[in-house]
Amino acid sequence: MSARPSAMLQHRLADGREVRVYETPAELARAGAELVADALRDAVAARGRATICLAGGSTPRALYAALAAARSAEACWMRTSVVFGDERCVPPDDAASNYRMAHETLLSRVPIPLPRVHRIRGELPPTVAADAYERALRAAFGGTRGPNTLAAVELRAPLLDVTLLGIGTDGHTASLFPGSPALYERTRWAVAVEAPASAAGTRERVTLTLPLLAASQLVVVLAAGADKGPAVRSALEPADGDVPPAGRVHALGRTCWLLDAAAAEQVLPLLRQGAEPSAV
Ligand code: 6PG
Repeated sequence: MSARPSAMLQHRLADGREVRVYETPAELARAGAELVADALRDAVAARGRATICLAGGSTPRALYAALAAARSAEACWMRTSVVFGDERCVPPDDAASNYRMAHETLLSRVPIPLPRVHRIRGELPPTVAADAYERALRAAFGGTRGPNTLAAVELRAPLLDVTLLGIGTDGHTASLFPGSPALYERTRWAVAVEAPASAAGTRERVTLTLPLLAASQLVVVLAAGADKGPAVRSALEPADGDVPPAGRVHALGRTCWLLDAAAAEQVLPLLRQGAEPSAV
């Protein structure tokens, strides 16, 4: 992997969220891969294991390819578990499958033991898949009072070391869409939802819930392209208090938004205002 790309702009917002802007999507992907590799290494050094939650869609593809090639993460994969932030309810070999995209770009290229990849079984009916995923997550990562007991909102210590998310042009993240009742789920870790007709892939989805996504040491939200500009702005600088789903994710640890210049266009004035330059 070539030298670590430097952000053209980086700031910490008043609410603690970090924002870094990169010239191009390629630099965004490389920087994101380095940030994820650092988080995996820190987790393995601290606890002997790491858990990464993968995002779907298309933006993460380049980051996953860079991460698979990152020598700095090589020693982590045998100790890393993988979960998914959401999945379209399709078979794993379907072109719309988030698992398939992650497998093609990352999972097929690194030595993660298969039992440590917790795939959402999109081939099942949505509620069956969501229930099975919830059980698998609780069995693998059960809360501090023992497995299968903690409501998502009770999680006080991070379950996920690094969680990757994207943002849709409507401000959705994972498969949490504006106006969805799933945004108010506080007990379950994973739920079945129906995406709006405008969403990519299939409407039937399984998604992690907001409190579960927040139970992360580090959340990295990726956005590239001018079409994401309005959603990024409403997530980082809500105008009328109506915060889109992506803007509601605040990690127990750090929340870091990685933008390319095109996606950052509408928030550059915000980032250049009084926000303190961060030491990120
Ligand atoms: C999905 C993703 C979704 C994605 C955004 C952005 O299943 O589609 O989980 O939340 O991150 O829709 O998608 P792009 O990266 O393709 O723009």
